[in-house]
Amino acid sequence: MAEIRDEARGESPPEDDAAWRALLEWRSDTSSPVAESPLYELYGPLCKAHRNGTFAIAHLAQSLDGRIATLSGISQWVSGAADLLHTHRMRALADAVLVGLNTVLLDDPQLTVRRCAGVNPLRVVIDPERRLDGSQRIFRDGAAPTLILAAADRARAGEALGRAEVVPVPRSECGLDPHEIRRVLARRGLKWLFIEGGGITVSRFLSAGALDRLQITVAPLIIGSGRPSILLPEINDLTNSLRPRTRRFVLGDDIMVECDFDG
Ligand SMILES: NC(=O)c1ccc[n+]([C@@H]2O[C@H](COP(=O)([O-])OP(=O)(O)OC[C@H]3O[C@@H](n4cnc5c(N)ncnc54)[C@H](OP(=O)(O)O)[C@@H]3O)[C@@H](O)[C@H]2O)c1
Repeated sequence: MAEIRDEARGESPPEDDAAWRALLEWRSDTSSPVAESPLYELYGPLCKAHRNGTFAIAHLAQSLDGRIATLSGISQWVSGAADLLHTHRMRALADAVLVGLNTVLLDDPQLTVRRCAGVNPLRVVIDPERRLDGSQRIFRDGAAPTLILAAADRARAGEALGRAEVVPVPRSECGLDPHEIRRVLARRGLKWLFIEGGGITVSRFLSAGALDRLQITVAPLIIGSGRPSILLPEINDLTNSLRPRTRRFVLGDDIMVECDFDG
């Protein structure tokens, strides 16, 4: 298992910084030089996979008992500094970072790149029924363009909420169809999508078969109750479970398993 070095504050260690900047260059320009390194081992294959077209990758940090937050919504922090740094690197690689309504309501996240070098991705929140009132940080801080995906019967094209643009998406049986969400974003040139949670949002993408990769970081704590990680429709036979190819990485005290659903 490859080990990605940790640092107490979860910021890029100086010796990794050059390797990280080279990777960022190489992500957009394959002719720029990139060297073998633990960072390349983790992120290089993702950059290559994304070049084949649109790419959707999700990440969740969960406890040993499969919880991503307490029931009241506290998730800071389930995983350690190395996984937080990893999350910021994933944001820096992505064109857009997407979260569900509850994550914005409960965490009021910034969804920006702060722990490593990189440009903030565009931010997307799924709010089908228009429950958000525009008071949250992503609608006010101007740190990156922000979209609200809402059910088409609740939104008008071109409408704004704070500094965010409201984008109508047709309703489907499963709410807003994750494949349609990917198409809507791809039409805007947003080809690499990083889905950062929470559990309901990631589960809907997984259930729809709309994920290329899923990263689950397992942290050594037991919460014992709380908001679940992945929840899919019930099956009666393990032959119907998902058994994707995986890669494994040590991130400080945590272990990240990356599932590959392509091919
Ligand atoms: N540990 C981690 O890695 C991590 C990461 C992110 C967040 N979190 C935590 O997770 C908690 C929130 O997660 P959560 O699972 O409760 O909720 P969530 O995924 O943040 O939001 C779920 C809501 O988003 C809307 N939604 C998402 N996908 C949709 C789709 N395809 N179609 C229609 N609507 C869709 C729905 O809103 P409606 O209900 O209006 O239909 C749904 O109920 C927070 O406590 C946060 O702190 C943890």
